[in-house]
Formats: sequence, structure tokens, C-alpha cells
Amino acid sequence: MTTPIQTIASALLAARRIVVFTGAGMSAESGIATFRDKPDSLWAKFNTREMASPAGWRENKQRVWAWYEGRRADVIATQPHAGHIAVAQLADTLQRVHGNPVQVSVITQNVDNLHERAGSESVIHLHGSLFEPRCMACSRPGEFASAPPDPQASTLEPPHCTHCGGYIRPGVVWFGEAMPEQPFRQAEELVDTCDAMLVIGTSGVVRPAADLPINAYQLGKFLAEINPTPSGLAGYMKVQWPTSAAQGLPELLAQIEQVQTS
Ligand code: OAD
Repeated sequence: MTTPIQTIASALLAARRIVVFTGAGMSAESGIATFRDKPDSLWAKFNTREMASPAGWRENKQRVWAWYEGRRADVIATQPHAGHIAVAQLADTLQRVHGNPVQVSVITQNVDNLHERAGSESVIHLHGSLFEPRCMACSRPGEFASAPPDPQASTLEPPHCTHCGGYIRPGVVWFGEAMPEQPFRQAEELVDTCDAMLVIGTSGVVRPAADLPINAYQLGKFLAEINPTPSGLAGYMKVQWPTSAAQGLPELLAQIEQVQTS
């Protein structure tokens, strides 16, 4: 019988263009909270309208800014794990095994930049980044205060735009806001042209991001999920591998490397 890891390794070895689609579970083992899969996930503890909507920002900018600065502090204090590193090494590993160039593109819903810190070069952010604040008024990139972010602060005055004086807001997409158009178009294109897609650590309930794996399914692409618990997208998968990102991804790389030595 073929195991999930063998099926996924074979599909990746046959692929030349691979999309790795990630959500909060990808970063869970780096100590970054997920949004909705655990009793202490972010949306169990915080109100989405207060912390992740334009209305919440209008009501209390200081509360919202402090919350995102706290999340940024948590991310700065942590490190990418072995799974992030395996994703960054996937293209080189495959090429070493079969000698052909491979393109691996990461499409992430995460705002933590851990893929980049692990060495992934092609990363599309569907939901923005904690590290790219911008002006609420003129949309120009903003700057953080020079002091490091305080993870404990419950209110914090947002900085002001050096160009127009407007408030600097977190660079993430809030509920009720459109996804950034260009990254989403690029992501759609990558999905259209890929041979295989790995879906890692996402509940698959937030759209339109979750439409991307469904598009891949409709186009007949190979789809595999790495998630300890089958997600809302599991029905679209060729393989559901119930493992964690930090454990499964290095194992997958080792399985691919075995082909070279066997
Ligand atoms: P969720 O919190 O909704 O889902 C996390 C998923 O990760 C669940 O399916 C878990 O089973 C899985 N998981 C947990 N630990 C894991 C591990 N160690 N390895 C692999 N998988 C694991 O997070 P997202 O799907 O990313 O949007 O949520 C989507 C969007 O909803 C987020 O981008 C965010 C949120 O509102 C914005 O902030 C705009």
C-alpha cells in the first residue's frame, strides 16, 4: 500500500511547478497562534470586528495598533521551524534528485514573514504582512516607532505618516476589505499553471483565499493536504496527510532524497 508521504513525494518528483499554500497552522510550531482551531486561538479570545475590521479601527485605533504590535513582537521573538526550512529547500532538493529545474512558489495567508526568514524566495502574501504598515489616508508605506514593539501593551498610539500626517495602520487585510489585487492575480496564475499544490495548515474557510485550492482541484491538479486535522478543503485533496508542518515537511524532504540514494 502506498502511504501519504510516498504519494506526495512521487507527485512532487514528477512536478516542475509547485505551489505551497499555507495558513496559520504552518507557523503554529514556531509558537504563533492560529485563528480558529483551538480554544486559545486568536478568534476565540478576540473579537474580529474589534481587531480586524475598518469599523474596529475607527472605534479604537490605539487598541488595534497595540494588538498588531504585540503580534509583531511575538513573531520577532520566534524563529522559522524545520517545516518552513523544508519548504525553502524543496526546489533545490528536487532538482538535486532528478536534475531538472523546479519552481516552488509559496502562497501564504500568513502575515508573519517566517517563510522569507526561512529562505523562501517566491512568497505571495494574500493577507498582507505585519511588517508592512501603511498610511490609512494616502496608502504610502509607513514606519514603525523606533522602540521595539511591546508585547504587553493594550493601547498604543499609532505613528503618523511622514508624508500626509495620516494614521499608520497595520498592513494586513481586515474583514470586509478586498484582498490586494495584484498578489491575488499572481496567485491565481501560479495555481493555473502549477502541476501540484501542497495545502498546509489552513482551515480553508476564509475566501477568496480558500478558492485557490478549489480552482486547482477543478483544473485537475495534484492536491495534498498537510494538517493534523482534515480541513474544510480535505474533500478536494488527492491525499490528506495527518501530520504537522514541522514534522511532516522535513520527513517529506527526506523521502524525496531517498529516491536519489535508492
Ligand atoms: P486557522 O486558524 O483558521 O486554521 C489553522 C489550521 O491549521 C487548522 O486547520 C489546523 O488544523 C491547522 N494546524 C494547526 N496546527 C498545525 C500544525 N502544527 N501543522 C499543520 N497544520 C496545523 O488559520 P487560517 O486557515 O490561516 O486572516 O485562517 C485563514 C485566515 O483567517 C487568516 O489568514 C486570517 C484569519 O482571519 C486575516 O487575518 C485576514
